[in-house]
Amino acid sequence: MRKLLVTGGAGFIGSNFVHHVVAHTDLSVTVLDLLTYAGNRASLAGLPEDRVELVVGDIADAGLVDDLVAAHDAVVHFAAESHNDNSLHDPSPFVRTNLIGTFTILEAARRHGTRLHHVSTDEVYGDLELDDPQRFTEQTPYNPSSPYSSTKAGSDLLVRAWVRSFGLEATISNCSNNYGPRQHVEKFIPRQVTNVLDGVRPRLYGAGQNVRDWIHADDHSAAVLTILERGRAGETYLIGADGEKNNREVVETILTVMGRPADDYDLVKDRPGHDLRYAIDSTKLRTELGWAPRFTDFATGLADTIEWYRANEAWWRPQKSAAEAKYAELGH
Ligand code: NAD
Ligand code: DAU
Repeated sequence: MRKLLVTGGAGFIGSNFVHHVVAHTDLSVTVLDLLTYAGNRASLAGLPEDRVELVVGDIADAGLVDDLVAAHDAVVHFAAESHNDNSLHDPSPFVRTNLIGTFTILEAARRHGTRLHHVSTDEVYGDLELDDPQRFTEQTPYNPSSPYSSTKAGSDLLVRAWVRSFGLEATISNCSNNYGPRQHVEKFIPRQVTNVLDGVRPRLYGAGQNVRDWIHADDHSAAVLTILERGRAGETYLIGADGEKNNREVVETILTVMGRPADDYDLVKDRPGHDLRYAIDSTKLRTELGWAPRFTDFATGLADTIEWYRANEAWWRPQKSAAEAKYAELGH
């Protein structure tokens, strides 16, 4: 394997993956990214031009996708509409990109016999009660709640069908909530960090009791690379780093690290259908493929992330007012 096609490589996790691949392998990478509001050319800045090329285009463009897939040894598919709140406002781009886009990639991979890794989310499994001792495993039934998570669930099922019916050489991973540098300011952690930098109080949905299972984006990238290199075709792997925290705990840590009183936040209108808790059991990935997270101290990883936003205002400032205008419309 020499040439990788990475869809969505100008987004948060996709760009982290491209940086990770450049640092840890000698592969060359073509990024296919539409540069939607969530994509950012600047997230690929500093990468060697002889190893990383950006093609601006749509994963639902069958001709373009066919040409690119034909010219690469493997595809890692990150491109998606990724934000739950947006999917509640207007589901249509989620259906188009997450379902039709994934279908387009699958058909090209089938035609050319190309290895595919499909990047998905733990949200396909729905949510857990706060006191449920179970965590999600590869056997948990699908039960998505939002337009976002249902289109991701649909895309996973398409991949599984292409594996079974057409013998496509594909793997799937379902990961929990990522944090780290270059995440769009619409998402929970960057929104609160940049609010605090702007002197605005963080805003928690509902009672702030919802639990997310946080993992650093670099650990996610390492897991995806491991699955690409050593995963068994047709298999699904769950990715998680035992990072369960409720939203209050996260915001209180942000405020404390940033030198503000820990209770300096507001409770606002809840998200409709808001999933209560996600929790990942990543035993299969750890035991079969030997992956383990490196960022095991959430407070340290979060402090580094806060520092990144403090030092890189030029990266996030152009996104901020449009993101907050959307939230004002939604009442959050
Ligand atoms: P993101 O929104 O930051 O990035 C998505 C990227 O896809 C952007 O660069 C955007 O321009 C691009 N894109 C969107 N539509 C496109 C299209 N039609 N054609 C080509 N490019 C298009 O998302 P993210 O948070 O980096 O998530 C990446 C992937 O990881 C998604 O598939 C998501 O479901 C999955 N995931 C995310 C998380 C998380 O915590 N963020 C956790 C688990 C899984
Ligand atoms: O679990 C993986 C998923 O994690 C990914 O598939 C999604 O792409 C990613 O966006 C993320 O989804 P969430 O909906 O969990 O992430 P978000 O950052 O939107 O919200 C995290 C939690 O914080 C959630 O309980 C909602 C809450 N929240 C969010 C925002 C933006 C707030 O309380 N206040 C806010 O302002």
